[in-house]
Amino acid sequence: MTHPRRRTAVLGRGAVVATVPVAVAALLTAAGPATAAGQAGASGVGDPYFPLAGNGGYHVAHYGLTLGYDPTSRHLTGKAVLTARATQRLTRFDLDFKGLKITALTVDSARAAYRRSGQELVVTPHRALHKGQTFRVTVTYRGKPGPVTDPDGSLDGWIPTDDGAFVAGEPQGAMTWFPANNHPLDKSSYDFTITVPKGRTAVANGVLLGQRTRGGRTTFRWRQKEPMAAYLATATVGKFEVKQYTTRGGIKVYDAVDPREASAAAPVLKKLPSVLEWESKLFGPYPYRAAGSIVDRAPNVGYALETQTRPVYDSAPDLSTLVHESAHQWFGDSVSLTSWKDIWLNEGFATYAEWLYAEQHGGDSAQKTFKALYARPATDGLWEFPPGNPGSGANIFGTPVYARGAMALHALRTAVGDRAFFRVLRAWADRNRYGHGTTAQFERLAERESGKNLGPLFHKWLYAQGKPSTP
Ligand code: TRP
Ligand code: ZN
Repeated sequence: MTHPRRRTAVLGRGAVVATVPVAVAALLTAAGPATAAGQAGASGVGDPYFPLAGNGGYHVAHYGLTLGYDPTSRHLTGKAVLTARATQRLTRFDLDFKGLKITALTVDSARAAYRRSGQELVVTPHRALHKGQTFRVTVTYRGKPGPVTDPDGSLDGWIPTDDGAFVAGEPQGAMTWFPANNHPLDKSSYDFTITVPKGRTAVANGVLLGQRTRGGRTTFRWRQKEPMAAYLATATVGKFEVKQYTTRGGIKVYDAVDPREASAAAPVLKKLPSVLEWESKLFGPYPYRAAGSIVDRAPNVGYALETQTRPVYDSAPDLSTLVHESAHQWFGDSVSLTSWKDIWLNEGFATYAEWLYAEQHGGDSAQKTFKALYARPATDGLWEFPPGNPGSGANIFGTPVYARGAMALHALRTAVGDRAFFRVLRAWADRNRYGHGTTAQFERLAERESGKNLGPLFHKWLYAQGKPSTP
């Protein structure tokens, strides 16, 4: 398939509760099978496209990841300390972890039994955990990490490069480098301590707490305080040129750029503060204290990812890609999916941000972009499936999700007018900040803010098969 995330395809209420929406709370507490042996946590959170993604019975509050990577041997050593809370009685629970060899595993400092089956790491703590209990899982591991192949054939996870590794986990790859509750339903804070050979840089999410070089190796310490889904974590390693500064608004920026991409990247990266300011005016305050860009050279990747606070690019991005990944900080990162099926809430929104940016910076109006897309024949890939129901994990990054998803937002804007439309976008980001949102919740919010019945509009743009008969 063609990957629209390269931007080429784009030519150019009530039920929304302040903290955890009802549907999400229900999913998070979904109990695993109660067997004669007691209560086991479910092997997945119930995502129809990725049935084994995430796990039932607990929530991870914090990940402490200590990693060492040698780009020459491509060997990784890791220690993950997960601080979690049981949402049910648990005689055993699963983590998602694929590949790497485990050398030790404890729950609350006591050795725990475990077995592995595919991506499921099944842990039996030495005594059952009671509902509401906070517990700590420590997993020590090593090996040569590699990526997973997604249903659409693309690679994600730990992707070695000629000078380090490009690390991006959407939708599945986080489990290739740390044991996780690997579904966006579960969001956590993170600390990273990453050691690499001197001369290499290890870049993760959030704020750089410090770096120290000793005995030919440098250790970087990163902290991501605001909640983050596992797929948005990175620990990208390479030979990078680093630039650090603080924006007028007080956001700490850290840019790491492969020198081979530096001259192409520079004019785009320098626009980050103005892009974030412009997006803050449209979407509300930027959700994080840190920002930046990681520009790698990873020719076998073919996409960029909105890794939280600091998107990772496989090569120097163009401006609209930077605008896209930046918009994801609000839509996708701060407001997370509850199910991969709702992916248009990420990609349609980030794509529409590109259209808006063009419109307000001397480029084509969103209306013009919409019209040009609508002009595509009914046989075009754009109309292959509806964005609100992509049908499988193989379609979640397809053109309809990006382009028709953005068209859905444009149709909404046309129907309700600019004032109500931008009020909806801001309310969406605000009410679900650091949390989650579903398509149904977005529809209800838009109806409430506009006072209009929008059922037919959402049906036409999000759910109806084929090209809509009128624009
Ligand atoms: N979310 C990314 C973007 O649009 C794209 C992406 C991440 C992707 N991982 C992927 C696309 C895997 C295809 C396959 O910015
Ligand atoms: Zn995107």
